[in-house]
Amino acid sequence: MTETATLGLYGLGTMGSALALNILDNGFALHVSNRSDEVVDAFGEEAATAGLADRLSAHHDLDAMVRAMPAPRAIILMVPAGGPVDSMIDRLVPLLDKRDTIIDAGNADFNDTRRRTEAVEAAGLTYIGMGVSGGEAGARNGPSIMVGGTKEAWTAIRPMIEAIAAEYQGSPCATHLGPDGAGHFVKTVHNGIEYADMQMIAEVYGLMRLGMGHAPAEIGKTFEAWDQGPLQSYLVEITGKVLRAEDAPGVPAVDAILDKAGQKGTGRWTVIEAVKMGQSATTIEAAVAARSWSAEKPLRETGAALFELRPAAIDLTSAQLEQALLAGRIVAYAQGFRILLAASDEYAWSLDPARIAEIWRAGCIIRSALLDDIADAFRGSLSHDQLIFAPAFAAMLQDSLPALRDVAAKAIEAGHPVPALVSALGFVDTMTQARGTTDLIQAQRDFFGMHGFDRVDGGKDRHGPWWR
Ligand code: 6PG
Repeated sequence: MTETATLGLYGLGTMGSALALNILDNGFALHVSNRSDEVVDAFGEEAATAGLADRLSAHHDLDAMVRAMPAPRAIILMVPAGGPVDSMIDRLVPLLDKRDTIIDAGNADFNDTRRRTEAVEAAGLTYIGMGVSGGEAGARNGPSIMVGGTKEAWTAIRPMIEAIAAEYQGSPCATHLGPDGAGHFVKTVHNGIEYADMQMIAEVYGLMRLGMGHAPAEIGKTFEAWDQGPLQSYLVEITGKVLRAEDAPGVPAVDAILDKAGQKGTGRWTVIEAVKMGQSATTIEAAVAARSWSAEKPLRETGAALFELRPAAIDLTSAQLEQALLAGRIVAYAQGFRILLAASDEYAWSLDPARIAEIWRAGCIIRSALLDDIADAFRGSLSHDQLIFAPAFAAMLQDSLPALRDVAAKAIEAGHPVPALVSALGFVDTMTQARGTTDLIQAQRDFFGMHGFDRVDGGKDRHGPWWR
């Protein structure tokens, strides 16, 4: 069976091996290889134990794998983002034939994907940048898959991709988003939303823990209860589980973990691309900043000793916190979709926001009950393309904003940092204020630099009295 297999996968780390098993499980024959022989052998054993060995051909080196595959080949790369992808492309291009395809299934900066697509396609090959979300369990059992490349390339891989993807009510959570970097861009924004959602969950946890004196296990139960309501989502579900787990008897697992968050770049890329397009995604920015600040542990320890600010007790109900988190989550999604729509215009991708929401309903990390409503909102008529103006979301926000306001105000008063929740509120308050205060900014710009402004009365004079 493997002699005719045209599909290969290189990189058998956690995600790569899970994806490879998923492909085999779905009846596709597959060649695999990895930098280290032991990893290849261990994967071969794992596949044999799972009864999948007859469809697998494992190779100790890349050249042997390519030689064993008849053309047209498609080779999935599951290697770390950045330099390793470029090195793999450099090694693969001379080994491949003109009808072959390279698929980068890791997270990638979409600018890199665009550059790589151009280079690989100039060599006569096909390149696909494919975002895969869902962590190890998703890769193994069905991830959400965001594909960027030509329509022809998508048509060729579509049956395999749809077979391995998660399903939501019978519909595969995989789609073709557009050319070159479109798939990786959408995956990047998915991760930006993921960062914001995680940060706001952590902020609410902090209020319950440090402001209300609840123990982690008790907070875990609150998250589990919230997972049955409008906040139903993978991230709320796992938060409940995490907070109830113990590192040792009587020691909450979270208390054994250093409060320094890691980040591999996707959140930062989301913010960078948003800003480059004249957009802003404040909740995502706040989440990226919170992770960066968290990494400066010695600095924070110095600050704590110097200022001795002890956040005070806070009086909030679980229902208020639930509603505040709901409002914040709506804003995070809304800001994410704003970036997607801006990029769609900028790069002429014709992204379909409803379809993106649909493929995020299962398999991916940000899957949540809200995504079905988001898909419906984008399928309906939407004022200015803004999710927060869709009737269902405007109503949800009007209900939940008082809670967000109360939570943010009390947290600020008591000295608890809630930067993402506050920024979500700032966004809604700004976007619902018909006349803001940038008239003053315009006046200042004109005063010091004669930059000019538009007049409320439509008059032609573009400069203030300070120039007369
Ligand atoms: C996913 C995840 C996945 C990965 C993140 C983690 O959608 O499956 O987002 O891509 O877990 O890259 O990113 P950080 O290390 O930046 O948190």
